[in-house]
Amino acid sequence: MRVDVLTLFPGMLEGFLSESMLGRAREAKLLEINVHNTRDWATDKHRTTDDRPFGGGAGMVMKCEPICAAIEALQSPGCRRIYLTPDGVPFTTAKAEELSKQQHLILLSGHYEGIDQRIRDTVIDEEISIGDYVLTNGTLAAAVVIDALARFIPGVLGEEKSLTSESFTRNLLDFPNYTRPAVYRGLSVPEVLLQGNHGEIEKWRHAQQLEKTAKFRPDLLKKQP
Ligand code: ADE
Repeated sequence: MRVDVLTLFPGMLEGFLSESMLGRAREAKLLEINVHNTRDWATDKHRTTDDRPFGGGAGMVMKCEPICAAIEALQSPGCRRIYLTPDGVPFTTAKAEELSKQQHLILLSGHYEGIDQRIRDTVIDEEISIGDYVLTNGTLAAAVVIDALARFIPGVLGEEKSLTSESFTRNLLDFPNYTRPAVYRGLSVPEVLLQGNHGEIEKWRHAQQLEKTAKFRPDLLKKQP
């Protein structure tokens, strides 16, 4: 799979994309990620990418020309062109899985007060928000989307089964995990986990998931099949 990211701050992604699972996935050619500076498509001598809003108001708006030129240069037939914005559709694990099956994504990170609406109307297929808060720019949001979808690409996670037991896979939060020592600062690991009865362990874990979900994310329980 190929992902092109368009941002004014390519440096924000450098370390992030080279470390850990993503770094390894890229080395193993499971995932090709190219980070581009939107400014490279500006044509004036100051490499301008923004301008004052028509109608007045505070802040600047990203201009059509550099972004549309960049997307048109990078796009391929069938690719998905996604704009990261707080007024987009909320990102979910289902969306991450769906995107992981695409051949080619273009992720556009916005900045300032937003981008000219005509960009959204002409070269964007889909708009995604990573949560109800506003970041200073969409680059971290693009990073979040890449990280979440990479986990669904076969071979990226060491152990495939960790995908099926974790939070959100069945609209349940994860169960509590423990490792050695069996007693730490007077706190013992639940007895059932030490006894090796896998049926009992499964039952306990599921009960813990239900309890935790009811406590912290009751909204998820309503989505249970
Ligand atoms: N850009 C700024 N805030 C954002 C958010 N919450 N999600 C996606 N892109 C953003």
